[in-house]
Amino acid sequence: MAEGKRWQALIAVRDIYPGDATPVTFGTRELAVFDTTEGVTVAMARCTHGAANLCDGYFDGTHIECPLHQGLFDARTGAAKAAPARVPLRMIQSRVQDGVVQVLL
Ligand code: FES
Repeated sequence: MAEGKRWQALIAVRDIYPGDATPVTFGTRELAVFDTTEGVTVAMARCTHGAANLCDGYFDGTHIECPLHQGLFDARTGAAKAAPARVPLRMIQSRVQDGVVQVLL
């Protein structure tokens, strides 16, 4: 475990939008919880290209399309997949325990 970080409860699994992106404010951070086809992932919610919150975009279960300029990110890895998005999303290490999504922050 990274020094100074600890697992913290973020949101109950029952409270996330099934198969979609859920915006969660955690302290000063705006996070996106993605219910992907391969499990739950968490990332910073702001697009790396501009000010859009990616949770407002279209999510197909693996990729999130930015609502502003249609940049595309892989919600499982954070990889930028289509212009104008070039910088990957910052993923937050996460896990599900006892029905709760936890983040390592
Ligand atoms: S703000 Fe997301 S692609 Fe431009």
